[in-house]
Amino acid sequence: MLSREENEILTRVGPDTPMGRTMRRYWLPIAASRQLPGPDCDPLRTQLLGENFVVFRDSEGRVGVIDEFCVHRRASLALGRVEDGGIRCLLHGWKFAVDGTVLESPNCGPGMRIKVRQPAWPAIEDGGFVWTYIGPAEKRPPFQRYRFFDSPEENRVILRINTAANYLQLYEGGTDSSHVGVLHMNMMNPGWKTGSFVGGDTENENDGAKVGETTGSMSEKSSMYVGDSIFDANVELRMEDTDYGYHYAAFRKAAPAEDGRKRWNVRITPVMFPTGRIIPANAFDFYVFEIPMRDDLTATYLVFDAPGPLDRQEIVDTMGLADERFWNDVDCNFRVSWDDRLGQDRRHMDRNFSGFAGIEQEDAVIAVSMGPIVDRSKEYLVPSDGAVIRLRKRLLESVRLNEAGGDPLGLAITDYSTVHARAETVLTEGERWQDLVPGNTAQPVRVAAE
Ligand code: FES
Ligand SMILES: [Fe+2]
Repeated sequence: MLSREENEILTRVGPDTPMGRTMRRYWLPIAASRQLPGPDCDPLRTQLLGENFVVFRDSEGRVGVIDEFCVHRRASLALGRVEDGGIRCLLHGWKFAVDGTVLESPNCGPGMRIKVRQPAWPAIEDGGFVWTYIGPAEKRPPFQRYRFFDSPEENRVILRINTAANYLQLYEGGTDSSHVGVLHMNMMNPGWKTGSFVGGDTENENDGAKVGETTGSMSEKSSMYVGDSIFDANVELRMEDTDYGYHYAAFRKAAPAEDGRKRWNVRITPVMFPTGRIIPANAFDFYVFEIPMRDDLTATYLVFDAPGPLDRQEIVDTMGLADERFWNDVDCNFRVSWDDRLGQDRRHMDRNFSGFAGIEQEDAVIAVSMGPIVDRSKEYLVPSDGAVIRLRKRLLESVRLNEAGGDPLGLAITDYSTVHARAETVLTEGERWQDLVPGNTAQPVRVAAE
């Protein structure tokens, strides 16, 4: 549970807010490269941290990130013509280069000097993304590299899903290990119908306000549809703070070793501030970035990075995004409405646990179902929410560091390629989970003199 004030600090991202100022210290993705498929393609109208931008690719293939509204009389440049090395405003034909320079201003006399530029921000295209930095110029940090930058394009799939919910609802969903086997029952435990429902432990005396600051452990009796699934909701969390945020391990009991020592199935998730995480998966590295477009709208970017070529359509299907009523790959908007119960199919809930199809569809629907911004002063937390609690605590720490004139967490890190998730791995009593991911606490950082 948070105070209302803390909730406001964490969720508001506009220019004059503590989190807005903190997020503006980092390079952030503003588009997937494929949204700008070639030179002089259609410009992209989008938002980042509550501000409006147009992203375009000029005739040379260079990418520009500029203010949406023309510096002359404020027409939207999202309607502009992209041609001859710039973007041309429809209203009076001013043309701007990717850095905002006014290249032409046809309604001005030949001798007139134009003293303005279209506001423009630095853009770097790498790893299948267009990254930009919209914070104070004098505080521009080093660019941060991820391991998927080095992959051939065919081995990588990036999906963008614009979801009508505050970024923190989606970010928390990604650090909440105990929902995986419940909400995503259809995928994680396809035999759920044949298991027996045990139900929650109503005798549980945990005080939600106190737990979770420490390692949590859910009651033995609290798993649903108890089978042998390692995805049951009965999870014990171990956490460790890192320079970039924290990482945590979800422990689930496994059969003991032959010598009688205890064993667990362990999944490890690193959480890289301000918006990233790596989800444990076997077949590929699975990065997620929850980028606030506005307070109530989030661009979720899913990055799948495999050792060999990936089939984009197969991933779209698996994520539950193939149904165009929910999403399409062109505008990337996740469309749901309460008019039809967010698209839930209750007729088939005898064999479909959630009434939805696929992990991303389920996650996005749940975030929307909470309303645009959750009031976290009204929650009742339990130990399995420990990683969510840690997320909020570390984000608040990061904001405080920034507001005090320092650097927010992880800002100095230049290379995230040593940071890994770990899919189910058996750990035996006496072994340290941190030893499975030694690179998670050793990133190259910018030297102070730079
Ligand atoms: S408003 Fe854009 S050129 Fe006049
Ligand atoms: Fe999920």
